[in-house]
Amino acid sequence: MRPRRQGRVRRPYDLVRADPEPGFEISVDGVPVPVVPGQTVGAAMHGAGIRSWRTTRIAGRPRGLFCGIGVCFDCLVTVNDSPSLRACVTEARPGDRVSTGGPQDAAGEAALRGTQASGDGADGSRDAAGEGDG
Ligand code: FES
Repeated sequence: MRPRRQGRVRRPYDLVRADPEPGFEISVDGVPVPVVPGQTVGAAMHGAGIRSWRTTRIAGRPRGLFCGIGVCFDCLVTVNDSPSLRACVTEARPGDRVSTGGPQDAAGEAALRGTQASGDGADGSRDAAGEGDG
């Protein structure tokens, strides 16, 4: 077995010789999280060691990224006051403010169940979960 080189941290994009643009930060519940351009909010959170941020309604079991492809809706977050976005398919943008809980997320869940209208996106806001980019 070949010995590993000491003192150098290899990142996944080093392996494919990618040269991404300079990184930036988003805020997750007020905590700065580094982002590589092109990462989703969920990927950035996962990279920062944030593995779960929601709980199941009945048993209170932790939830975060599960399918990673926008199907299961386990990863819902609020980004810049747009509730119920799937973190796994929402691209992070510089300065995004991500909230993982609280009253605004409860309002977003109500909107998903059809008991409350959600934003129309006319102001350029992102689509609510389940609408749009599938
Ligand atoms: S992890 Fe399944 S929808 Fe995001």
